[in-house]
Amino acid sequence: MIYAGILAGGKGTRMGVQDLPKQFLDLGNRPILIHTIEKFLLVNEIEEVVVGVHPDWVTYAEDLINKYLDGSKDRIRIVPGGADRNMTIEQIIRAIESVHSLTEDDVIITHDSVRPFISFRSIQENITKIETSDAVDTVVEATDTIVQSMDKEIISQIPERQYLYQGQTPQTFRMKSFLSLYEELTNSEREQLTDACKIFVLKGKKVSLAQGDYSNIKITTVVDLKIARSMIEDN
Ligand code: CTP
Repeated sequence: MIYAGILAGGKGTRMGVQDLPKQFLDLGNRPILIHTIEKFLLVNEIEEVVVGVHPDWVTYAEDLINKYLDGSKDRIRIVPGGADRNMTIEQIIRAIESVHSLTEDDVIITHDSVRPFISFRSIQENITKIETSDAVDTVVEATDTIVQSMDKEIISQIPERQYLYQGQTPQTFRMKSFLSLYEELTNSEREQLTDACKIFVLKGKKVSLAQGDYSNIKITTVVDLKIARSMIEDN
């Protein structure tokens, strides 16, 4: 079976809005989180959309589902997230496991709650490519030249742009395989490996690329929110 795991466990400190994590801010006539959940509800292959929310905001998120997505409530579940992104993924998988017994083949499509412009096509490509891969990462080709510096002073390398991509989400993998790789990590590795696909890459697994979109922006700062609001108005 295929599940969506929506990562909404963060507090959005870089957005600087006191007392309301950015995924709950309005975009057009409804919160960012609601836009994102709606995109996954459109995909028939997805059994259930499980949303990992910061523990302080679980009731708030449940109220939003009742208000905006009442007719789809049987396909949505809110669960408490973890202290970092991968811990939120783990919490979501544990919540799924507690209700449905997991098989080796059960897949999760994880997605940042603050990327509401995800396309149906990208989600479908994740579903297709996971059949022949250990994980799928959604990317766009890098448009800027990427410059590497190890000391913040001097350039150590300028890698060839044709081989560089910018990582987005969704990231898709089998839930059992994520849990077993994640359990193998030491605490300090867990702190460093905040990107789930990086764990698969470092463990030598086959991680395929799915094509993202430049419009699939992550709303991180106030500037991103302004861009997102203008994108909604253009639609
Ligand atoms: N996220 C999560 N659980 C955490 C931390 C982050 O599910 N413990 C989610 C966020 O809610 C967000 C996504 O991961 O949808 C991408 O993270 P980011 O943009 O860094 O969100 P925040 O951690 O909320 O932002 P900030 O770093 O500015 O505090």
